[in-house]
Amino acid sequence: MCLSSHRKGPTKVIDDEMIDKLFKEFKENNLPALMFGAGEEPLMYKDIDKMWEKANSIGIMDNFLFTNGTFLNEEMRQKIIENKVSRVFISIDAATEQTYRKIRQTNRGIDEDIQGNKKLQIINEDENRLEKIEDNIKKLVELRDSKKLSLPLIRVSFAVQHANKHEIELFKTKWENVVDFIEFQETQNIGYDKLAKLSEEERWRRREPLYKKDYKKDCNAPFHSATVWADGSVIPCCTFQGKNLTLGNINGIPELGIPATSLKELWNGEKINELREQFRTGKLNIVCQSCLNARQTELWENIEEERK
Ligand SMILES: C[S@@+](CC[C@H](N)C(=O)[O-])C[C@H]1O[C@@H](n2cnc3c(N)ncnc32)[C@H](O)[C@@H]1O
Ligand code: SF4
Repeated sequence: MCLSSHRKGPTKVIDDEMIDKLFKEFKENNLPALMFGAGEEPLMYKDIDKMWEKANSIGIMDNFLFTNGTFLNEEMRQKIIENKVSRVFISIDAATEQTYRKIRQTNRGIDEDIQGNKKLQIINEDENRLEKIEDNIKKLVELRDSKKLSLPLIRVSFAVQHANKHEIELFKTKWENVVDFIEFQETQNIGYDKLAKLSEEERWRRREPLYKKDYKKDCNAPFHSATVWADGSVIPCCTFQGKNLTLGNINGIPELGIPATSLKELWNGEKINELREQFRTGKLNIVCQSCLNARQTELWENIEEERK
């Protein structure tokens, strides 16, 4: 389901120099909220607690994370509480081990991907992965409650797709009265991405609708947040498709003639403003059209129909 099971090549871990650069800018611009976990698994980063410390030290109010819950072990749960993480979102997408295995793949092939990334840990094969994750989540709730804290808010999510739609009710039953939120999401089809092969001009250009499906031409992502990837690129949203609408790079890429640009400049720059304008007028570029079109809304409509 996730890009991680489709992408090839070495992974990259954010370096200390880049972290310092980013936090300097966050501080200068009074950043109110910082999310960890866009295209990666934040709890695989061994110094994640140092990041939270930095975020707290510069007054970021809302430090939240998306995780698959695998590394939400006792030590990590303590760190989450100590560092006042405000929201923990755990994506599960299944109510049984069998479905979980189908959707959330194992780490087959990860060895060739990590290529010298010493900070990445390898998950052992495990028959009861879902049970362990469920247990981790319940223990986090217990820890928070035992300390009489109201944060972090804890959410479990379920990206609805053919392989799991029969478990919607079971998922609800399992988590009702356990966590603070249960969210059902639209799943996006992720396949080999042809858009990456188009030129920059082709990707950004406003076009008449190219896809037949009557998708909503609406997305608020470029109006409220930006995503920074470990390679320094800045994206107008946290989706995998958004990589095809890169706004620039905070470190620059000299060999491609791309200059280092601050987050603030990119957030106020021509590219993101062009994108915002596209959403105001409804005449979208091909990447956003493809992203909105790839959401499995029909599946949802059928489910809603069955419930009526
Ligand atoms: C890409 S994950 C990264 C963070 C973390 N590793 C995790 O598994 O939650 C961030 C969010 O994207 C969602 N997601 C992953 N693949 C998706 C897909 N194909 N369609 C829609 N949402 C997806 C996840 O369920 C999660 O809520
Ligand atoms: S529609 Fe465009 S801006 Fe919105 S999430 Fe998709 S790629 Fe990003």
